[in-house]
Amino acid sequence: MLTRRVLIDTLAVMAASETSSAHAGEWWRGAVVYQVYLRSFADANGDGIGDLQGLESRLDYLAGLGVDAIWLNPCYASPQRDHGYDIADYFAIDPVYGTMADFERMVASAGARGIRIVMDLVANHCSADHAWFRDALGAPRGSVERARFHFADGRGVGGVEPPTNYDSVFGGPAWTRVVEPDGADGQWYLHFFDPSQPDLNWAHADVVEHFDDVLRFWFDKGIAGFRVDVAHGMAKAAELVDVQAGSDFHPAWDQPGVHDIVRRWRALGDAWPVGPRYWVGEVWVTDSALARYLAPDEFHQAFSFDLMLQPWHAESLRRAVERSLALAGPYQAPAWALSSHDVHRVATRYGQEVDLGDPDPSDMISAARRRGPVDAELGIRRSRAAALLQFALPGTIYLYQGEELGLPEVLDLDPEVRQDPMWFRSDGEQFGRDGCRVPLPWSREGANLGFSTRANAAPAWLPQPADFARYCAEDQFEDAESVLATYAAAIEARKQHFAGSDSLCWIETVPGVLAFRRGRVACVVNTTNEDVELPVTGTVVLSSVPAPSGQLPANSAMYVELE
Ligand code: GLC
Ligand code: CA
Repeated sequence: MLTRRVLIDTLAVMAASETSSAHAGEWWRGAVVYQVYLRSFADANGDGIGDLQGLESRLDYLAGLGVDAIWLNPCYASPQRDHGYDIADYFAIDPVYGTMADFERMVASAGARGIRIVMDLVANHCSADHAWFRDALGAPRGSVERARFHFADGRGVGGVEPPTNYDSVFGGPAWTRVVEPDGADGQWYLHFFDPSQPDLNWAHADVVEHFDDVLRFWFDKGIAGFRVDVAHGMAKAAELVDVQAGSDFHPAWDQPGVHDIVRRWRALGDAWPVGPRYWVGEVWVTDSALARYLAPDEFHQAFSFDLMLQPWHAESLRRAVERSLALAGPYQAPAWALSSHDVHRVATRYGQEVDLGDPDPSDMISAARRRGPVDAELGIRRSRAAALLQFALPGTIYLYQGEELGLPEVLDLDPEVRQDPMWFRSDGEQFGRDGCRVPLPWSREGANLGFSTRANAAPAWLPQPADFARYCAEDQFEDAESVLATYAAAIEARKQHFAGSDSLCWIETVPGVLAFRRGRVACVVNTTNEDVELPVTGTVVLSSVPAPSGQLPANSAMYVELE
């Protein structure tokens, strides 16, 4: 049995506290940001696809949950081949999501509830439907129109082979051949994602200036900042040469030119008349490379994917927390996430067998998209505990829509309804991301379980499984023991107990149990399948499951106000 331990290890993670004037105006420090995948959040006009009016109609729910900001996945004009990560016009709202007036009203309504809007900036690539790319297709080799992208001649006789050996992140080659305006087989263009997403050439001044305008345009609309998509990929090496097996160098990832772009944007945002704008990067690089993106003149934050990739295993989780805190250093605060629109849902992942192998360095994210049998109840139980762990951490918490309902990944979608390019380009080898994008169940009854607020709505764009009703927000709202109630209570506890300090002190316990103190309250997490004695003494403030006094049940977490 576990004996109570004294505090023997202290890790001071931040030099300054949140309340110090050094961090005045940095609203994002300690904030809870809710990620809205608009297409799947709420549908107001009944076409089966989420939209801006739908989001606006649910803002009270988000305010009630206690969120400080929304990260809104792309809602710009787009042919939706990668559901908005393929932008045809950066200055327009896609009609499927509503109008510019809808957008402005949503930003204002959110603002009235104290909720800020962070948009998604996709600058590594645009859509093949963007006017620039169309112009490039109609223009000759060597033209200025083509220079805004990465066009190159193929290799081999007749140029039939791609210019280099790069793979697309979504599977298959990263080059696609075009037909020249005169009908001849032509050059190839580079796309690290889908062929519908041509990579922009950041060495071209038009591209640089275009994005300055994009930033100003949306800052003017009152948004608080941007999440930067594939930030480590924007600049390419001057020479696009083959990737050598076993070499760390890749001409597309983490090139020095990226930092010029980030610094430029940071300066523009810092000088914004109504106050500095916020930046968080999606940066998939090694730990040592990540530090540069977090320099004081670059991003405020980059996602700490480390935690998201870990299995339900105390020592792995602790190491991930320690690594991210160390990387953030004394001035930054980590941005934590357990889920997103790109990985399998956390309630499903934690119900799978624990795999302690290191993630594949060339495809880290795949660690959070595993197949295999799932114990659904166990997964939910652990994800409730993980929520308490997460909301006790110093830094910013990103919460992916539906996580607060304990929604599972939908693993058995019919191939016919799947839409993710990753599924198609990997020939079904990878499920891809449709399963975490199934529209939210809001109520037990009603069109698409309340996802659509109009009667006689079209079916949801991805079908909700029959058992989705049991996760609906409406029912969970009424139930004090629900996952939703636990999330709301954890967010409230975070504000009440963890807002005053940035420091985290580990408390040594037995293997399988995590414990740390923030101020006067400890967070204790039991990742094992056995109940243990509570490793600290005090008053329980919150528990992820009902617990007998003095006990920390298997796969649960608690906040304990220390004596
Ligand atoms: C990022 C996004 C992902 C998208 C990809 C291409 O990884 O999070 O959803 O498909 O970039 O834009
Ligand atoms: Ca709609």
